[in-house]
Amino acid sequence: MSEKEIKNLEAIFEAKIARDEKIEPKDWMPEKYRKTHIRQMSQHAHSEIVGMLPEGNWITRAPSLRRKVALLAKVQDEAGHGLYLYSATETLGISREELYEQLHSGKAKYSSIFNYPTITWADIGAIGWLVDGAAIINQVPLCSTSFGPYARAMVRVCKEESFHQRQGYEIMLTLANGTPEQKEMAQDALNRWWWPSLMMFGPTDDMSTHTEQSMKWKLKRKTNDALRQQFIDQTVPQANILGLSIPDPDLKWNEERGHYDFGPINWDEFWQVVKGHGPCNKERLQTRVDAWEEGEWVRDAAMAYAEKKAERKVKQAG
Ligand SMILES: [Fe+2]
Ligand SMILES: [Fe+2]
Repeated sequence: MSEKEIKNLEAIFEAKIARDEKIEPKDWMPEKYRKTHIRQMSQHAHSEIVGMLPEGNWITRAPSLRRKVALLAKVQDEAGHGLYLYSATETLGISREELYEQLHSGKAKYSSIFNYPTITWADIGAIGWLVDGAAIINQVPLCSTSFGPYARAMVRVCKEESFHQRQGYEIMLTLANGTPEQKEMAQDALNRWWWPSLMMFGPTDDMSTHTEQSMKWKLKRKTNDALRQQFIDQTVPQANILGLSIPDPDLKWNEERGHYDFGPINWDEFWQVVKGHGPCNKERLQTRVDAWEEGEWVRDAAMAYAEKKAERKVKQAG
C-alpha cells in the first residue's frame, strides 16, 4: 500500500471515531490500535479468569446455602466475562492459545488486586463491594468505547458487575450489623482491601503512559485520577451507612472541590505487586498453569472427536 493510501485509510478511521461510530474487526485499523486493544482486552480477560481464584477459595466455606448460591453465580459470571473477552480479543487476529501462553508465561498482566489473599469470609463482602465496585466505574465508560466487540461485551458485563457489587455490599451490611466480632471482621476486610482497590484505577495521571492515546481512541473516557475520585466519592457514604471507617486519616470532604480529599497511595507497593512480588502472584499463576495442564486430556479428547467426525463426513460424501 502506498503512503497516500494509508493516510487516506487513517483519515477514514479517525473520522469514524470522531463520529462515535464503532470500529469492527474487518475494518482497517492502525497497527497500534490493534496492538493496544489486544493488550488491554486480554489483560481484562485474564483479570476476570484470575479473579475467580480468591473468591473460589470460599465457595466450599460460604456460611449458608443462600450465600453459596450467590457466590457460585458470581464466580461463574466472571468465567463468562473472561470468555466473552477472549472471543472479542480473538477478532483482532490473535489465537486463544497465544493469549493463554502470554498469561501462563507471565508476559501478560492481569489486575494486581487478585494477588491479595482472602483470609476471612468478610473478604468476599469487601471484594464484591469494593473490587467489583471499582470495576464498574472502570468498565461503564467502556460500553461506549470505539472497538465494537469490546463495547458490546461490556454492556452485559456491567449489568452482572452491578449484581456482584450488591451481593458484596449485602454481606458487609449483615456483618456490620452482627456481633462485635463480625463487625470487626468487616472492618478488618475494609482495612485490607481499601488501598489496593484505589490502586485498581492505575497510576496517577502524571505517571500513566497510555492515557493520552487511549483517550484519543475513546478506549478511555476519563483519566485514572478522575475515575479514582469518582470511586472514593461514591464509596465513602456507603461505608458510613455500614458504620465502618475507611482506613485513611486524611480522608476529608472538601467543600470547595466538591470531592473527598484523600491521603497518599503507596505506589511502591503497587509496583511491587505489578512486578510479581505481591502476596499471591506465584500461587495464582501456578493455579492457572495447573488448570491448563490438567485440562489437556479434555482438549485432546474433544479434538480427536472432531477429527473423527470430519473423517466420517468425508467418507459419507465419497
Ligand atoms: Fe467480571
Ligand atoms: Fe464481578
